[in-house]
Amino acid sequence: MRSYYCGQLRIEHIGETVTLFGWVDRRRDHGGVIFLDLRDRSGIVQIVSDPERTPHSYEAAGDLRNEYVVKIMGRVTQRPDDSLNPRLPTGEIEIYADQIELLNAVRKQLPFQVSSADTDSVREDLRLKYRYLDLRRERMSRNLQLRHQIIKTIRRYLEDTEGFIEVETPILTRSTPEGARDYLVPSRVNPGEWFALPQSPQLFKQLLMVAGFDRYYQIARCFRDEDLRADRQPEFTQLDMEMSFLSQEEIIDLSEGLVCHIFKTVKAIDLPRPFPRLTYAEAMNRYGCDKPDTRFGLELVDVSDLVQDSGFKVFADAVATGGIVKILPIPGGNDAISNVRIKPGGDLFQEATNAGAKGLAYIRVRDDGEIDTIGAIKNNLTEAQKQELLTRTGATPGHLLLFGAGDTGTVNKTLDRLRQAIGRELGLIDATQTNLLWVVDFPMFEWNAEEKRLEALHHPFTAPHSADTDLKTARAQAYDLVYNGFEVGGGSLRIYQPDLQSQVFELIGLSSEEAHNKFGFLLEAFEYGTPPHGGLAFGLDRLVMLLAGEESIRDAIAFPKTQQAGCLLTNAPSKVDDKQLKELHVASTYKPKQ
Ligand code: AMO
Repeated sequence: MRSYYCGQLRIEHIGETVTLFGWVDRRRDHGGVIFLDLRDRSGIVQIVSDPERTPHSYEAAGDLRNEYVVKIMGRVTQRPDDSLNPRLPTGEIEIYADQIELLNAVRKQLPFQVSSADTDSVREDLRLKYRYLDLRRERMSRNLQLRHQIIKTIRRYLEDTEGFIEVETPILTRSTPEGARDYLVPSRVNPGEWFALPQSPQLFKQLLMVAGFDRYYQIARCFRDEDLRADRQPEFTQLDMEMSFLSQEEIIDLSEGLVCHIFKTVKAIDLPRPFPRLTYAEAMNRYGCDKPDTRFGLELVDVSDLVQDSGFKVFADAVATGGIVKILPIPGGNDAISNVRIKPGGDLFQEATNAGAKGLAYIRVRDDGEIDTIGAIKNNLTEAQKQELLTRTGATPGHLLLFGAGDTGTVNKTLDRLRQAIGRELGLIDATQTNLLWVVDFPMFEWNAEEKRLEALHHPFTAPHSADTDLKTARAQAYDLVYNGFEVGGGSLRIYQPDLQSQVFELIGLSSEEAHNKFGFLLEAFEYGTPPHGGLAFGLDRLVMLLAGEESIRDAIAFPKTQQAGCLLTNAPSKVDDKQLKELHVASTYKPKQ
């Protein structure tokens, strides 16, 4: 029997004879003395074998290689003063191995060094293909154990402190209204018909409120076939919650309690409450995005009113056509950012045009206070206007002011990207800060220019503010939680009145027949006594990623998909037999490019 995990051993165990199991992390032969680093999921401990003190294990120790699986019995001993290792939690002791039993060898060349001591970066495709080896490494093992800790903390808190009940909802279901593409599963038994994998348990959790469960949660797997980014996976996990009879304030308060408890338990961080709040309008105005990273400044300044009558046509036209002109003021930017970078061909210019900007105007305030700018701005803004721009943006010598002009969406997107890139580059982001904030008062709808219709910003079951009488422009009772610039959660109060629900469907262009086809079961349920309810869902993988200090969501998931939405370990997705397709009444129309 195992007496301890390797990483648990400390000086208080000196003198004990212990049995350990694990993998050989590294073997070092120091002229007659063999040192083994033995690793299991808890960490590493040093094993020693030499012909004099441990004659029975010396030969076996000599035969071991990296990643062999062994059982070791030995005595916990104080390390000599000159070999203490303060970087290792077990660094004050070592085990003299009386017996070493080889349980299994490695039979193939390892695709990469697994050893935790090896800090070389391994290519991600290799890490994903041999994920079971990657997961042996300290970093990933630590991340998955943190994930487990977080989930355990959530369950304890929600169940034992807040009275939530976990209910599982179906994976084979109908399309849910979260707005991404569905993953579809053909039904063999019902030819020509398809299940959709849930984008979230949204409709079922609302039905559970109708059913009287009052407080529901679930660690829920969700599936969305959408373009992937560093913080998105096609298959991901939500902490999904729904509550009856609570107001928005009460839901926010309860959620803050949970988040604070998680931070306290797994990170020993006391977050100040209440979390700050920004309205959607404020967030867009000051940061150009609805999930601002508030660990640094570089706030945007709207100068539309100042430049709308200027002779600079680009600015005047932007405002005249309903758009805006905004400035990203960068203290120290005059020295730090050269003209080459903000003119055509430069990286920041490229960043701006990638976001949809047509150009990137700027003003430099030289160290002596002289205002330096280019052609069109120079000739078409008066000195007084330039001075006013400096006053409005708080610009002082050394500032660089970057302009965004055009439709509101593009300007915000451009300046948001530049703000983030420049904030990172200039080292303005304090990585030790934990900034959590709520963004509230989202609009109910946004305009989908492609489809020329209003679209629910959150989802069509979100309730409007009762004070906002014009539904089209109403604010939603919706809230997102933002953590250092990442959206880690979002939710809303729901509509529970059939009339209001019909009006929302009408506004997003869903005929009552279509609404009935898609959500008839939910609308019907609402006829049978529905409590006022609301909820939210946290992106669990994102939360783990951030708490683990990782930059990719893949490092928070045991077996993630690649950016191409595939699994390198199992080679999924893959072709299937024609027979299987036939049984499912499915034929592929895909024709590979010649
Ligand atoms: P929403 O779509 O905002 O809301 O999702 C909730 C949270 O889930 C995370 N998330 C993702 N994480 C990884 N990969 C993805 N592809 C992905 N998509 C979303 C985000 C997000 O904040 N049913 C509603 C919640 C509700 O109203 O109760 C919903 O799903 O962190």
